[in-house]
Amino acid sequence: MKIVKASIIGFGSIGQGVAKALLMKKAELNKEGLDVSVVAITDSKGAAVDEKGLDLKKCLQKKAETGTVASEDLLGMTGLDVIKKVDHDLVIEVTPTDIQTGGAGLLNMTAALETKKDVVTSNKGPLTMKFRELSNLAEKNNCAFKFEATVGGAMPVINLMTEVMAGNEIKSVKGIFNGTCNYILTRMYEEKSGYSEILTEAVDLGIAETDPSYDVEGIDTACKVVILANAVFGMNKTIKDVEITGITNVTYEALEMSAKSGKTIKLIGEVRKDGKLSVAPRLVPIGHPLSVSGTLNVAAVQTDLAGEITVTGKGAGSLETASSILSDIISIYKCDCKT
Ligand code: HSE
Repeated sequence: MKIVKASIIGFGSIGQGVAKALLMKKAELNKEGLDVSVVAITDSKGAAVDEKGLDLKKCLQKKAETGTVASEDLLGMTGLDVIKKVDHDLVIEVTPTDIQTGGAGLLNMTAALETKKDVVTSNKGPLTMKFRELSNLAEKNNCAFKFEATVGGAMPVINLMTEVMAGNEIKSVKGIFNGTCNYILTRMYEEKSGYSEILTEAVDLGIAETDPSYDVEGIDTACKVVILANAVFGMNKTIKDVEITGITNVTYEALEMSAKSGKTIKLIGEVRKDGKLSVAPRLVPIGHPLSVSGTLNVAAVQTDLAGEITVTGKGAGSLETASSILSDIISIYKCDCKT
C-alpha cells in the first residue's frame, strides 16, 4: 500500500468536501493501492497537525461545532507554515480564489512546488495569473500539478482533453462554465424577471463567487477559459486576452424573444485553436447539448478524429468539486507514475 501524506490547505466547503470524500472512499482508494493520510489541515484561524494522520471525522465535527479545525496551540499557523514545516507529499490547495493577486493560493502552490510537493487544486486564481510559471516549477521539481476541479467542478473536462482524448487534435472547446449564470438565465425566463431579482436566489445556492459580480460579469468564466487555453492548448494567456461580455444586459424580453424562435441564451466561454478566447451570451437552439439548464455546466470539445464530444455535469458544490480532486489524486499515485 502506498501511503500518501497530504495536507488540506483551506477548510471551507471544498476542503470539508475533500475530507468527507476521503472518508467515504477509503476502501476504493485502498483498492487502488493508496492510503491517503491527511497530516495537516488549515483554515483561516490556524492548523491541526498530526504527522501520524488526523482523524478526519473529528476534524469535520470540530469545524462544525467551533468554526475552526485549528488546535489551541496552532492558532495562527498558516497554510504556508504547514507547507514549509510539515513533512508530507501532497498539498491539496483549496483556499478561496483571488484573481486580482492570486492570493494565498499562489504563495501556497509556489511554496509547495518549491519544496517538491505535488499539488492538486480547485483554486482558479493562481492558475489564471501564473499558469506557465507554476507548471514550469512543477516540471523542474518533478512534481505533479493537477487542477481538474478548477474548471467545471465535477465535470471532467481538462483530463478529458489532455488524457482521455490523447491522440486527437483538440480544435476548440466551448461551453457553459459558470453554474450561477446558467441558473440565473434559467430562472429569469421561468420567473419573467431581470437578473438582479434572481441574483439573491443564486447566491443562496452557495455556488456564486464571494463577489458574485465575478459570475455575472463573465469573469469567472473567463478564468476557466484561460485555464483551458493554457492547460489544453499550450497557450500562454491571461484574463486580459479574453473578450468578455457577461449576462448583466440580458433581459427577460430577450430570453422570451429567443424562445419564440426555438432558442435560448447561454453564457458561452470558448477557446479556439487560433488563440481567440471569448465569453459572451450566445443564442443556443433549445435541445442542443449546450442548452442545459439550472446550475449545470457543459463542454463541447471539437476534435479531429472523434468529432464532437460533449460532457455535462455539476459545475460546483462541495462533494462534486471533491470528486475531481479525488480523481486527480488517484491519477497521480495509483501507478506511482507522476503525471
Ligand atoms: N461561481 C462558480 C459557478 C463556482 O457558479 O460556477 C465554480 O467555479
